[in-house]
Amino acid sequence: MNAAQLESAVGSLRDSRLIVVANREPYIHVRKTRPAKGVINWLRGRKETIGVECLRPASGLVTALDPVMRACGGTWIAHGSGNADRETADARGRVKVPPDKPSYTLRRIWLSPEEEQGYYYGLANNALWPLCHIAYARPEFAESDWQQYVRVNRRFADAVIEEVKDTPAIVFVQDYHFALLPRFVKEARPDVTVCQFWHIPWPNREAFRVCPWGEQILHGLLGNDLLGFHVQYHCNNFMSTVDRGLEARVDYEHFAVWRGGRPTYIKPFPISIDPSLWKAPAKTADLAAETKAVRQSLGLSDEKLICGVDRLDYTKGIPDRLKAFGRMLDTHAEWSGRVVMLQIGAPSRDHLARYQQLKAEVESCVEAVNSKHGTDTWQPVIYKPEHHSPEQIARVYRAADVCVVSSLHDGMNLVAKEFIAARGDERGVLVLSEFTGAARELEAAVQVNPYAVDAFAESLHGALVMPADEQRRRMRSMRERVGSHTVFDWAGALLQAAGRMEVMR
Ligand code: G6P
Repeated sequence: MNAAQLESAVGSLRDSRLIVVANREPYIHVRKTRPAKGVINWLRGRKETIGVECLRPASGLVTALDPVMRACGGTWIAHGSGNADRETADARGRVKVPPDKPSYTLRRIWLSPEEEQGYYYGLANNALWPLCHIAYARPEFAESDWQQYVRVNRRFADAVIEEVKDTPAIVFVQDYHFALLPRFVKEARPDVTVCQFWHIPWPNREAFRVCPWGEQILHGLLGNDLLGFHVQYHCNNFMSTVDRGLEARVDYEHFAVWRGGRPTYIKPFPISIDPSLWKAPAKTADLAAETKAVRQSLGLSDEKLICGVDRLDYTKGIPDRLKAFGRMLDTHAEWSGRVVMLQIGAPSRDHLARYQQLKAEVESCVEAVNSKHGTDTWQPVIYKPEHHSPEQIARVYRAADVCVVSSLHDGMNLVAKEFIAARGDERGVLVLSEFTGAARELEAAVQVNPYAVDAFAESLHGALVMPADEQRRRMRSMRERVGSHTVFDWAGALLQAAGRMEVMR
């Protein structure tokens, strides 16, 4: 499905008001600045504002839901986090978007520093994120964070209720930032259809039990009519967590949980990307020129190129991949001077100690490989810990011989799918952690256990020497899957299922 087909598929929902709730906003207003005039100002690093610009975050979620919102109208409720967000919205935080063709409303919620700290950094990212990923990072549970999480969920729910007004509505909630909101909305408006997509894994019952507010979280989520996860395995984990932790009837035949006389359906909806955004240049000559430019910018001559593209997050297994690369150089001396690993790391959540530690750990792993194996003329790892545009990333994907995704645990992982979509030349090898949701769809990837360093190192070597016809065979089958299961199929399936529930009630 493409964007236009999605528009017509969800056309039947036009009678209902569509309300999306997500922590991140689809359009963000930021001030454009330049160094202030005058030597003193310049010395003090002062800046002056020269205007406001509207940016669209490079997020899979925005790509998927923006076309739906354009087609159906409605309201997207999000945390207003841009430094010019207030001045571009009305007194209630509302602004019409997209700026060039206003067709739906973005409603921004303003959070105090204490709310943002407790709800976003604290409970969402220091407690729920490690709890659900089980990547051997201990979740931190602070009562004050929980209080802010409850408060912010309540504030967003109040905004939803205000936006629903007296019309039928479908409320589509995103992710682990809002586990309590569905119940708050359902209690106030039982007539409204509430569905949620949980973008991260759901752990097994034993792992979830440590959460002090487990019952409240499950009760909140069961306010949904429909709750989606990426894969069936996470649905099963959720159902057994409820079965053993809460008074509820769990119906394994229909994948529903009954509580308080009404059901919540639990279903898998594997998320994807918009492959058209990752298409290679049509002409072979342009592609060759692009690859040459990327390789030149990295100072490569004829070395093989392995790439890694991640948010700097401890669930992504970046140290593990660097160690495996180092091990490969230990055991296969023939690669000395003949291969380079480019690691791109987008800074993320860097107020949190765990993320600062990860940054330091990655730096030391890079240093360890480079100092052990590097020579005067060859640096095995090039590390770029900075934001890159999707266009820059696409060029890297196309220039690489191998792309490595080595998450310790990941709900889906879209980098894997982007790399596949970018390789219209049917070349390149995807090395993919078996602990990603993507591994279940992309069976033709070279699958690895990132914890098993020796086997991982051997797989990297195998990927580098894979014959062209085998690359093509694997790439073809994975491109077929990514081409036929797009992010628009994901959004369409979810919203159509929500629409059916609206009719059933
Ligand atoms: C994951 C989450 C998203 C989140 C993204 C980036 O993919 O599932 O909800 O938006 O990470 O993290 P951030 O904290 O910067 O929004």
